[in-house]
Parts: sequence; C-alpha cells; structure tokens
Amino acid sequence: MKLLEGKTAIITGAARGIGKSIAIRFAQEGCNIAFTDLAIDENGEATAKEIEALGVKVKGYASNAANFEDTHKVIEEIVKDFGRVDILVNNAGITRDGLMMRMSEQQWDMVINVNLKSAFNFIHALTPVMMKQKAGSIINMSSVVGVHGNAGQANYSASKAGMIGLAKSIAKELGSRGIRANAIAPGFIATDMTHQLSDEVRAEWEKQIPLRRAGTPDDVANAALFLASDLSSYITGQVIQIDGGMNT
Ligand SMILES: NC(=O)c1ccc[n+]([C@@H]2O[C@H](COP(=O)([O-])OP(=O)(O)OC[C@H]3O[C@@H](n4cnc5c(N)ncnc54)[C@H](O)[C@@H]3O)[C@@H](O)[C@H]2O)c1
Repeated sequence: MKLLEGKTAIITGAARGIGKSIAIRFAQEGCNIAFTDLAIDENGEATAKEIEALGVKVKGYASNAANFEDTHKVIEEIVKDFGRVDILVNNAGITRDGLMMRMSEQQWDMVINVNLKSAFNFIHALTPVMMKQKAGSIINMSSVVGVHGNAGQANYSASKAGMIGLAKSIAKELGSRGIRANAIAPGFIATDMTHQLSDEVRAEWEKQIPLRRAGTPDDVANAALFLASDLSSYITGQVIQIDGGMNT
C-alpha cells in the first residue's frame, strides 16, 4: 500500500523547485495533486505531465497565493474538481533581500504577503473542508532563517518565523478536529531561489554545513511526505529543520 493512496494534496507555488519535488514525491505515493502557481506556463505544464505519468489525477491552477479572494476561489474550484483535500503544503515563497536601513516598504510588504499571508489565505479557505472531513495535514514551508535570523533578510526571516507561529497555533486550534499542522525549515537547498546568490556566498554557506553539501529539493520532499502521511499521525505543532546540521 502506498503512503498517500487515494488522498489529495494542494501544494502552492509548485510549478518548479521544492514545491514541484514535493508534488512528484507525493504522487509517487499515490496522491492526487492540485498545485498552484502565479501562472501555469511551460514549467507548470511540464510538472503536470511528469505527475500525470505517475498515474494520479493532477491539475495546475494559476492563482496568486497572496490574494485572499483568488485563494478562496481556487479552493472552491479544487474541491469541485477533486472532491476532498487531505493535505495542504504552503510552499509559495519569494525573497527581496536587503539590509534594514535600505529596505523599502514594498520589499517588506511583498515578502510578508507572498510568504506568510498566503498561508493564512489557504488555511482560512480550507479549514471548513478539513473540519468536515475531520482530518487533514497542513505543512508550512518555513526556513532555518525563520528560526535563527539572517542579516539582510529581516523581511524573509520574519515571514518564515511567522510560518512557524501559524503552524503551532493551528495545531492547537484544530488538533481536536483531527487536523495536524507542522512546519519544515530547510537550510540551503539548491533551487532557482538559491541560484541567484553569487558563487562566493554559496561557498560560504556550504562551509557552515556539517554534511558539506547543499540540500536537494528531494531532501525536503521526503520530510514533507513524512509529515503528510500517517507515519507522523501523532506529530503536530513541530518544526523539522532540513539543513545538513547547519544550525543545530
Ligand atoms: N531554496 C532554499 O534554499 C530554501 C530554503 C528555505 C526555505 N525555502 C522555501 O521553500 C519554498 C520554495 O522555494 P524554492 O527554492 O523552490 O523557490 P523557487 O523560486 O524555485 O519556487 C517558488 C515557486 O513559488 C511561486 N510563487 C512565487 N510567488 C507566488 C505567488 N504569489 N503565488 C503562487 N506562487 C508563487 C514561483 O512562481 C515558483 O514557482 C519557498 O517558500 C522558500 O522560501 C527555500
């Protein structure tokens, strides 16, 4: 029996990167996949094809996760298309780095809205559905910098710390309804997001990692699979760092 046979997951911002790896990993375990991204372009279509080849139902939805109305509409559509939603992965995220003295209000607002408000939007829209089912697993994508902070990333670190507080609060609020909520805090993972960094900055990060390598999106996807599945049925309100030992 596959770990997520017959279940349905929503994964936000999953046309590429970590979200895509999570979608594929879940699909390998029999999970139907509804994924969102700002647009379903060639990346999104390629993702959908790869998932379809694994023999599960899949659909990509163009939606801005930071937008409250958009999110409520997309959840309605997904529930109509899939009938139920067992797993939510709040993965959509961006960076707009800069030192506090030079950070614009727009840089702050954008990162908080895309990284944190998006999770509120999805949890808010999906809670009634999961409550009716009396089951659900919510996974918030945080970051090690949400636990430890990082110079030049006050906006991003604050949004990722917020993802932890949100997961812990939802775990307390909805545990009695059979809904679990946890956070994943990846360290340095090789994706388009970290490709923006210079070779020097990347080398500096890698020196701080006891396992001496960047993580892969699959490293994160395996932890997400654990938290999504019944293997973690007595675990809620927790944060799992996936960082090669960097911050422990
Ligand atoms: N790569 C890392 O080292 C790392 C480390 C810690 C945490 N994370 C987190 O993991 C998540 C995925 O990161 P990644 O490295 O795969 O990034 P990525 O940039 O490769 O992918 C992010 C995806 O989110 C989508 N997205 C952006 N804004 C959106 C919006 N408003 N609505 C819907 N989708 C939107 C993008 O189009 C993209 O497909 C993010 O939340 C990121 O903060 C990444």
